[in-house]
Amino acid sequence: MKILMVCLGNICRSPLAEGIMQHLADKAGLDWHVDSAGTGDWHVGRGPDRRSVKAAADQGIDISKQVCRLFNVSDFDKFDLILVMDKSNLANILAMARNAEDRQKVKMLLGDQIVPDPYYHDAQFAPVFKLIEAGCKEIIKQYA
Ligand code: 4NP
Repeated sequence: MKILMVCLGNICRSPLAEGIMQHLADKAGLDWHVDSAGTGDWHVGRGPDRRSVKAAADQGIDISKQVCRLFNVSDFDKFDLILVMDKSNLANILAMARNAEDRQKVKMLLGDQIVPDPYYHDAQFAPVFKLIEAGCKEIIKQYA
């Protein structure tokens, strides 16, 4: 299965989600490929936010080599599941969907709950890691 994690900047939440989901899938022996992208282009080409890199490293996951990129409509063809962090991401991605098949691939990682944007809140990175980790475990339960 191919999963794309999406947030606004692709430097805080979705890089964590990519790293955590790939780590958990590998550990579970699943042949899953996980990537991430953002809906905003401010940080394209750069690595993840150092606070996300640290939050992941603290839990033994290296996300430092990831490179920020923009979501592209062709991602609807490349991925089976597109997991967004909040309702604004959801609206942005659904606005780019071409048909019902595209729309059906898009879900919030936590179901009805959002993963809050930690960009302006240093103390939120560790709790956001935990939220995303819980969401990824649920996804594995659901789709493995
Ligand atoms: P993310 O957080 O969507 O979790 O990557 C953000 C990162 C950067 C900005 C906003 C949110 N920004 O406005 O630059």
